[in-house]
Amino acid sequence: RLASLSGLQAGHLKLSVVTTAKYFFPHLLGPFCQRYPDIEVSFNIGNRGSMISRLRENKDDFYVFSHPPDDIEIEKFEFVNNPLVVVVHAEHPLANKKNIDFAKLKNDPFIMREPGSGTRFAVEKYLQDSGNSVNEKMTIESNEAIKHSVMSKLGISILSVHTLSQATKSSFKILNVKGFPLKHHWYVVYLKNKQLSDVARTFLEFLQVEGSDLAAELLDNSVAKGYV
Ligand code: PGA
Repeated sequence: RLASLSGLQAGHLKLSVVTTAKYFFPHLLGPFCQRYPDIEVSFNIGNRGSMISRLRENKDDFYVFSHPPDDIEIEKFEFVNNPLVVVVHAEHPLANKKNIDFAKLKNDPFIMREPGSGTRFAVEKYLQDSGNSVNEKMTIESNEAIKHSVMSKLGISILSVHTLSQATKSSFKILNVKGFPLKHHWYVVYLKNKQLSDVARTFLEFLQVEGSDLAAELLDNSVAKGYV
């Protein structure tokens, strides 16, 4: 039990998380809200670009990003690993190969997230740093739709391992590519001069004290296990 939690009755907690974190974050909110049933939560989901706008406008208490902006005065703490992996259809010719050179995939139709996406930001950085290229065929604004497109053999993609669920596991394959997974993390971020409410401070403390144990438990049953 966290010391500062005693006496906390009710209040409102405003959270905004990037689309890749929406699969994960509710599972941390669950135990918090069960302990404090009178706390009301708003949970906003968007891509990195829309999170940055909300942060600038001081709309929420906390934000979850992989790539926090560096031109806004923020506090951040590193939270859970967010590895990015290459996903292909289970019948892709390289599906069972090991240590694949990313260059071997350069002609495969590549499905990219939209401008403003942090996943796209990370993919573009990887391509630039590694000197690789992709055959960009489609831009899709949703991790879900990208997964279904990969499952329908429309192309390959790079996604956060957290977006992949057990249910769809048989139709796609995480390729064993040299240099992957790309190592990223999620950060919990708030404005440096933000006056945190009691509820917000309590939630932050909850994440800092209990977040990583809860996350480890959660990851035990997920496709992400072994990657994170
Ligand atoms: P996004 O999330 O691609 O939905 O913007 C990326 C991130 O993890 O920052």
